[in-house]
Amino acid sequence: MAIKIAPSILSARFDRLGEQVKEAVDAGADMLHIDIMDGHFVPNLTMGPALVASIRPLTKVPFDVHLMVTHPQDFVKIFADAGADDLTVHVESDHEPHATIRAIRGAGAKPGIVLNPATPFEKVVPYLPEVDLLLVMTVHPGFSGQSFRADVLPKIREARAYLDRERLPVALQVDGGIKLDTAALVAKEGADILVSGSGIFPDRVRENLRRIREAAQAAAAGRI
Ligand code: DX5
Ligand code: ZN
Repeated sequence: MAIKIAPSILSARFDRLGEQVKEAVDAGADMLHIDIMDGHFVPNLTMGPALVASIRPLTKVPFDVHLMVTHPQDFVKIFADAGADDLTVHVESDHEPHATIRAIRGAGAKPGIVLNPATPFEKVVPYLPEVDLLLVMTVHPGFSGQSFRADVLPKIREARAYLDRERLPVALQVDGGIKLDTAALVAKEGADILVSGSGIFPDRVRENLRRIREAAQAAAAGRI
């Protein structure tokens, strides 16, 4: 399966966001990653449903909405209505993930479960039969431009092995510090979707995306 690249618009220039979205889409982005932060689950505030709705008409490329909020269940419908195709929620948030996942599907979006670097893989296992995406964070969520945490690599390997062994149709996504070198590392461990913010935006979007894709594809081809 070809590796997918999801540019994170958190690293785009917000004074010309529409233009940057179009640049990423024209460069071949497979989806756009949109980071929602509530200043509580993580110490930062980013975007809301109005922003998602305002860029929705610009492209048909799927919107992959990453909810870094304390109460994700309160925001499922509002982001699905704003145009989210995927809605990923943290296992560490204050909610009942089974119920939130059902609500996401009920709202017509694809559910995903996310885990932070410090959270062991076992915590998400009960939810994997119900989700379309598993997002393994390779930085502590909150900000773009942080360094990739290589100590998460064994967890990516563990997740890949588990999904394959159980034959679960769940895409394995990674997010945080993905640049050329780290794209190759995670692709080698079997990641399917690579999120990259500062590795792609704001300048040379086309070139950055192409080079990350090439590095990931080459590493994935070398697996096994
Ligand atoms: C971090 C966000 C990421 C972030 C990635 O909390 O979830 O999606 O935008 O940015 P980079 O690729 O710069 O680490
Ligand atoms: Zn993210």
